[in-house]
Amino acid sequence: MKTNVNLQPYNSFGFKATAKHFVEINDVNDLLELIKTPEFKTEKHLILSGGNNILFTNDCFDGLVILMNTKGIEVIHEDGDDVIVRAQAGEDWPEFVKQMVAKGFYGVENLAHIPGKVGAAPVQNIGAYGMELKDSFLQCEAMDLATGKTRIFTNEACCFGYRESIFKHELKGLYIITSVDFQLTKKSDLKLEYGNIKTYLEQNDIVHPSLQQLHDAICAIRDSKLPDVKQLGSAGSFFKNPVVDKAQFDTLQQAYPTIPHYDEPDGRVKVPAGWLIEKAGWKGWRDEHVGVYEKQALVLVHYGGGRGQDIVNLSQRIQKSVEEKFGIRISPEVNFD
Ligand code: EPU
Repeated sequence: MKTNVNLQPYNSFGFKATAKHFVEINDVNDLLELIKTPEFKTEKHLILSGGNNILFTNDCFDGLVILMNTKGIEVIHEDGDDVIVRAQAGEDWPEFVKQMVAKGFYGVENLAHIPGKVGAAPVQNIGAYGMELKDSFLQCEAMDLATGKTRIFTNEACCFGYRESIFKHELKGLYIITSVDFQLTKKSDLKLEYGNIKTYLEQNDIVHPSLQQLHDAICAIRDSKLPDVKQLGSAGSFFKNPVVDKAQFDTLQQAYPTIPHYDEPDGRVKVPAGWLIEKAGWKGWRDEHVGVYEKQALVLVHYGGGRGQDIVNLSQRIQKSVEEKFGIRISPEVNFD
């Protein structure tokens, strides 16, 4: 265990924050040892994975940061076209997707290029291009931090929703996900419906894409819209897309006939927060340290030299102005420490 560790390399926003205690877990047995330590028992703790969805709002994290770094990817079951793959929590998510695509396993390709680690993926049920983690999630193993016992969480037990799971709510901070099992298939099953995918493939004269071509297309689409976190600090989408009731949407659509939207199964309508923020005039806005990404208004960026609080202030100003203009309250997808 280390003390006074600079967390700047461990959060994709690149904010400076010092962890009072910091420990890196390379083996699940290290976790069992850790939970017996006085630091673990007395200090508040934060489980850090890739650090791609966290905003440090203070200069010091007054507790214990646990960085998950366990490795390993293996096929644990194969039956005809069906494959079950187990990945340890510390595996890099985009690398995991690349490996599955290279093996010809379908089921996670639309989630290509999302920065982060495997263990964090179920926590917020990552999603992109018409696919969510829950679609290929079979089960995960997690450690109860009070007892050290492991528990299996089935897909149902995780209570997945749009960027939601039980690990963000009832069980927040109580369990650490140690590995995830994915139900994949060797049978071609590509999801191409999401608007940009078809357009991109058409523009590149790809009529019948292979699994690899779809993976590469998604990487290219993401690169064209989202900042590379190695170059510019961000946490991907900062807000969730709000869901409004049909009557409110109809009023909005009368005022803005071209408003993009997605119908929800329950009759409500999801509206892209990026569109609302752009229409409220924020796209490309910046001050010295932070701003709104010029190619995708849903992404808040850190140009360097700023503090987490700058992003908090900016996000509150955006929330207020979107609410004043459209009567819709947008809420953050990113976790605040
Ligand atoms: N739009 C604008 N202006 C903007 C941004 C978007 O008008 O500045 C419009 C677009 O033209 C489009 C619509 O909003 O009509 C949706 O935009 P986009 O396809 O870029 O997706 P999004 O809804 O903004 C969501 C996810 C992303 C994911 C993409 C692609 C959320 C919060 N975000 O963004 O996930 O990559 O769809 O599937 O659901 C993330 O969670 O970190 C993330 C990047």
